[in-house]
Amino acid sequence: DTGETLLEATAFGVIPVVEIDGVAEADALAEALLEAGLGVIEVTFRTRAAAEVIARIAERYTDMVVGAGTIISPVDLRRAIDAGARFALAPGLSAAMLDAAAEAGFAYVPGAMAASDLQAGLERGIRTFKFFPAMPAGGIAFLRAISAPFALHGLRFIPTGGVSITNLEEWIREPAVAAVGGTWIASRVMIREGDWAGIRRNAEEAVRLARR
Ligand code: 3PG
Repeated sequence: DTGETLLEATAFGVIPVVEIDGVAEADALAEALLEAGLGVIEVTFRTRAAAEVIARIAERYTDMVVGAGTIISPVDLRRAIDAGARFALAPGLSAAMLDAAAEAGFAYVPGAMAASDLQAGLERGIRTFKFFPAMPAGGIAFLRAISAPFALHGLRFIPTGGVSITNLEEWIREPAVAAVGGTWIASRVMIREGDWAGIRRNAEEAVRLARR
């Protein structure tokens, strides 16, 4: 059931979004997050290693809910599913991707930034949207404004894009926010430099602040 999977993915209130260049860093990254009590990760398809990293984490760290990010083609959706991803997100919404995900019975979260995105998703039974780019689009005030007309539909949002430790608490207080996402917890530079202690600290802080 895709709804249940999304509840698992959002259970921590925060989802680290990562760009990881090689599978060699996958274990240390997963362990740093798990040690911090953060059992979820979104591995974006913005590097060639993404599918391999997902496969590695899914196989080795069964207590980690691993998802795929930036899934904007049916080919990448298939690669993510085959690698063992449990959920996937995208920056935007397309009918073709919603069809592909529905056909696969897979938990797919399209991006929305306008009322028409929400309508297009609702028409296909989508209730959970990534709100992207959350801060540049207008932050919490904008999210409230575009979601207000849909009050009867129980929409849930995962804001990402400019979300960080400085505004996480405000976002998470919003009833419609299921979880926030962001790259600040484990940035590409931190992963590259092997700053696992820093990543663990960021993850611990995020988990603590996201707890409602
Ligand atoms: C995403 O894909 O979710 C965003 O790139 C995350 O945005 P951030 O880098 O501002 O956290």
